[in-house]
Amino acid sequence: MNVTIFGTGYVGLVTGACLAEVGHNVTCVDIDEVKIENLKNAVMPIYEPGLDSIVKENYNAGRLHFTTDIEDGVKFANIQFIAVGTPPDEDGSADLQYVVAVAKSIGQYMNDEKIVIDKSTVPVGTGDRVREAISIEQSSRNIQLPFHVVSNPEFLKEGAAVNDFMKPDRIIIGTENKQAEKIIRELYAPFNRNHDRIIFMDVRSAELTKYAANSLLATKISFMNEISNLAERLGADIEKVRLGIGSDPRIGYDFIYPGCGYGGSCFPKDVQALSKTAKQVGYHAELLNAVEAVNYRQKDVLFNKITGHYNGVENLDGKIVSLWGLAFKPNTDDMREASSRSLMEALWEAGAIVQAYDPESMDEAQRIYGNRVDLKLMGTKESCLVNADMLVICTEWKQFRAPDFDQIRTTISEAVIFDGRNLYDPELLKEKGFSYYGIGRGDSIKKFN
Ligand SMILES: NC(=O)c1ccc[n+]([C@@H]2O[C@H](COP(=O)([O-])OP(=O)(O)OC[C@H]3O[C@@H](n4cnc5c(N)ncnc54)[C@H](O)[C@@H]3O)[C@@H](O)[C@H]2O)c1
Repeated sequence: MNVTIFGTGYVGLVTGACLAEVGHNVTCVDIDEVKIENLKNAVMPIYEPGLDSIVKENYNAGRLHFTTDIEDGVKFANIQFIAVGTPPDEDGSADLQYVVAVAKSIGQYMNDEKIVIDKSTVPVGTGDRVREAISIEQSSRNIQLPFHVVSNPEFLKEGAAVNDFMKPDRIIIGTENKQAEKIIRELYAPFNRNHDRIIFMDVRSAELTKYAANSLLATKISFMNEISNLAERLGADIEKVRLGIGSDPRIGYDFIYPGCGYGGSCFPKDVQALSKTAKQVGYHAELLNAVEAVNYRQKDVLFNKITGHYNGVENLDGKIVSLWGLAFKPNTDDMREASSRSLMEALWEAGAIVQAYDPESMDEAQRIYGNRVDLKLMGTKESCLVNADMLVICTEWKQFRAPDFDQIRTTISEAVIFDGRNLYDPELLKEKGFSYYGIGRGDSIKKFN
């Protein structure tokens, strides 16, 4: 089948590459000329395991095309995906300008029937706005070609996006049109062979399903962080508590890791946007607001532990902080809303110098912060320790899990580790002569009571 995808970011590029991989003929459209030119030359705009090989193979096989020509994109296929960004607006609601711009382009250039599938995360009711934008453009052209607007929210996880797309837990389709349903079944048939993963519903329920899923996952994290803060003050170890509650199948082990706050391009903005949607319909979403507030506070936890250890923010002036992990989570280079960013910014404010290492996000950090004297981007996790006063961990990359502690102790000036992801055993670290601060556990307890 011919498919056009507007937006060649995490979602659009993965969707395009995976649809091409199973044999569809896909055109990816983006307004970012550099991105499209790079993709034509096999330069990936993002780090995502397994993505570059399927992009290259399908591009070379002629099943995956890249263009900035919007008209060509609209005319290429009956199936038009919208996968552009929906960043937070100033008030926290989702900014729909990119989604609406694509809808207008479709109305402007369409010359046959279209199925317009919205894959961006959009507030309930956006399907109607997309329909309206297309209709207005058609009216101004004095045409009335049939089209159907379908909601198909995406659930891929950065870092495992290709696998998630190829083997989805579920494919949510919001449509009440039988013809659209039939075409979408055919489109997704290659991903649906083992058992039927497609769940059909109305457009509004599909739109809300995406926000509900992300908000529930964010709730689990904020809940755990709330309990970890309590554990610290009560002399309990959150890691023991985690095992104790995770063993209940109604709770489960997933998404109950305490840490220095959630980030990324989805959870923070989606929780906020759902809360704004609630407000617009006169409902005060108390729980969602609390999830966000707890996360906001949690992003200060590492900085507070550091200032506690050094007896005040004024003593951080001139300190060199070795920071392991910049990405908001492992296996991605994405630093949007990453906990590392709020920590670095607080450290800089206090006059500290950050010496950082991340396996994939070094270019992204350079892009965001440029050259500054208080940020040194280091080539390895070992060189990141040299001349530093302390070690801080913000991302749980595998390569940070079993470091050479003796080398760390002899390289940094003081044997102190602030671990925002609870990677290490406090007892072991104590034996090795470290002051160790985790989240909600062990040695951090006494200091903060
Ligand atoms: N990143 C994720 O893990 C993830 C997961 C599920 C859902 N989502 C949702 O999917 C959507 C896209 O997210 P993303 O992370 O892929 O965004 P992104 O910022 O990585 O990419 C968006 C792309 O859209 C392009 N674009 C903007 N306007 C355009 C237009 N008029 N025509 C063509 N291209 C245009 C931009 O240049 C950019 O390359 C968002 O709504 C997001 O919430 C993201």
